[in-house]
Amino acid sequence: MTTAPFIPETAPFSAEQRAWLNGFFAGLFSRGPAGAPAAVSAPAAPALVPLTILFGSQTGTAEGLAKRVAKEAGKRHFAATVVDLAQIDLAKLAAEKNVLLLTSTYGDGEPPDNAKTFHAALGAAAAAGDAARPLAGLRFSVCALGDTNYTQFCKCGADFDTWLDKLGATRAAPRTDCDLDYEEKFSAWLTAALSALSASAPAPSAPSAPAAGTAAPKPAAAEGYSRANPYSALLLTSRNLNAPGSGKQVHHVEFDLTGSGLAYEAGDALGVIPHNCPALVSEILIALGCDGEEGVPAPDGSTVPLRRALTEFYDLGKPSSALLSLLAPVLAGGATSAPSAVPPHHVIDVVLQARALSPNSKPTAPSAFVGALKKLQPRLYSISSSPRAHAGQVHLTVGAVRYEKDGRPRVGVCSTFLADRAQPGTSRVGVFVHANKAFRPPAAGDTPMIMVGPGTGIAPFRAFLHERRATGAKGKNWLFFGDQRGATDFLYRDELAALQREGVLTRLDLAFSRDQPEKIYVQQRMLEAAAELYAWLEAGAHFYVCGDASRMAKDVDAALHTVIERAGKKSAEEAVAYVQALKAAKRYARDVY
Ligand SMILES: Cc1cc2nc3c(=O)[nH]c(=O)nc-3n(C[C@H](O)[C@H](O)[C@H](O)COP(=O)(O)OP(=O)(O)OC[C@H]3O[C@@H](n4cnc5c(N)ncnc54)[C@H](O)[C@@H]3O)c2cc1C
Ligand SMILES: Cc1cc2nc3c(=O)[nH]c(=O)nc-3n(C[C@H](O)[C@H](O)[C@H](O)COP(=O)(O)O)c2cc1C
Repeated sequence: MTTAPFIPETAPFSAEQRAWLNGFFAGLFSRGPAGAPAAVSAPAAPALVPLTILFGSQTGTAEGLAKRVAKEAGKRHFAATVVDLAQIDLAKLAAEKNVLLLTSTYGDGEPPDNAKTFHAALGAAAAAGDAARPLAGLRFSVCALGDTNYTQFCKCGADFDTWLDKLGATRAAPRTDCDLDYEEKFSAWLTAALSALSASAPAPSAPSAPAAGTAAPKPAAAEGYSRANPYSALLLTSRNLNAPGSGKQVHHVEFDLTGSGLAYEAGDALGVIPHNCPALVSEILIALGCDGEEGVPAPDGSTVPLRRALTEFYDLGKPSSALLSLLAPVLAGGATSAPSAVPPHHVIDVVLQARALSPNSKPTAPSAFVGALKKLQPRLYSISSSPRAHAGQVHLTVGAVRYEKDGRPRVGVCSTFLADRAQPGTSRVGVFVHANKAFRPPAAGDTPMIMVGPGTGIAPFRAFLHERRATGAKGKNWLFFGDQRGATDFLYRDELAALQREGVLTRLDLAFSRDQPEKIYVQQRMLEAAAELYAWLEAGAHFYVCGDASRMAKDVDAALHTVIERAGKKSAEEAVAYVQALKAAKRYARDVY
């Protein structure tokens, strides 16, 4: 089949673009109204398959993948449109033919913010058991993004998959559930989903278009530095912001970006590639009966010494099911003599258990061991600098994770890598920018901002304030900050005082939970200032929240509703509608983790 000649060979397009445009116009005319132009005289042209790509995304991963789906679909004779789940409702969905839905999961199995309304609506429709099967005309497939460290792994994607099916839509390709290490599964799903959706459509005619099902889409790595191709940045500073006696350890971290070409905006996050703690690696090597020099496969297929593999490439956190299966014979062998009731928290626990049960033999071969480990993943940190105020640098505000579990001290991999192990002035650390376009200071410099950022949640607001100072933006700025104790945990105290003196920080409300007998948190301060906070909202302020997702962000959201009810004299329903309107106007943004 040849492509209809709508676009002349001489037109300034590549072969691929020309093929796409020819397909597009053919599709347009072939789907046109009766009596459409005589151009329908292109009988051989393939009609484009309409495709809507829906995304639910908190920090941009699913959104980025949705755009990759669109790009790939465009090469395969689909007319693809990417749509935010916040923009869709049941009626609009029922009018679609082909849908690919990509979504992450947040909180305790909850949808990301932009998917919340539609998730609730679809769930309610599915629960109502609509016998009319309103989505009977729809074919779909779901790609769920998640993290196996959470018990509700990929729950939001699974919900959508179940409910779409229940409402009569046809599952064109099975759902895939991706861990943080999503590339392989995402690529396989994309190939399968596009093949399934194009199965009944005419075969692509453009020579440059890969046949469906044959070519895996390329990772979007090559253009500059990225997750797959991180920049090796010099660590300039890693300084504890807490005073002695604090129960916390939050570090101000600075990297040098001079000459890297790496660009970011206030509100973005930085991905950091950590190394595991060498003492932990040594302990695992001893338990495995290895010296660390054994050659094992790295994730890219090359052979590296076991010690390096465990330090740089593999995750030593929560054990994978593959590792538990690998060691099951050893663990089961000892079950009669020394059963362990405690589920292993980290890889070290399961390795020590296996060693204890089989003291005279190695629990497993080194290659099999690393083959059963997950890849070590980068961690994201909200950037706390502004490119306009801190040219050539990027700053982070990192809380060191330390706790005890099952009688053993534990540390977070990346936070303690940055706080304890990486050496300012000498260490180079792999980093990449993770854009967060939904979290930016207001475009207009005179729009007021209300920022709620307790603990490390202050990070992006330090960036916002420095940005506004650097650009001379005249809008009013109000920060709610809190932590345990004013004397030891008032992060960036001097800087904030200077910003106040200069008139950049209009108002600062503080909540130190342990400075008085009763606990006081930022949400209480919001309620105390309800009238003024509401007045700022009425004056067009943008409202931002950053920090702890598990409790703080929910409590702040509840306080915001109460403020609107009390100061705005509104019913609970009216307050919900007011907050919905803030979100719709992109005046309520959250960066929570
Ligand atoms: C968009 C985004 C922005 C972020 N911004 C920041 C920021 O600005 N500053 C910041 O400090 N962090 C930030 N984070 C969090 C950061 O990415 C890391 O998750 C955090 O630093 C912990 O990583 P880690 O490697 O040190 O710990 P890990 O090795 O990943 O260990 C953390 C895990 O340990 C376990 N754990 C922790 N405490 C306990 C406990 N008491 N009992 C039992 N188990 C426990 C939990 O399973 C937890 O998930 C952000 C995250 C996201 C997604
Ligand atoms: C605070 C927080 C909570 C999360 N909760 C879950 C969860 O309950 N289940 C899950 O599978 N993944 C969970 N994740 C992992 C995200 O779904 C995963 O990182 C995803 O790739 C993010 O995609 P996004 O950038 O498009 O939002 C959570 C991540 C964060 C930061």
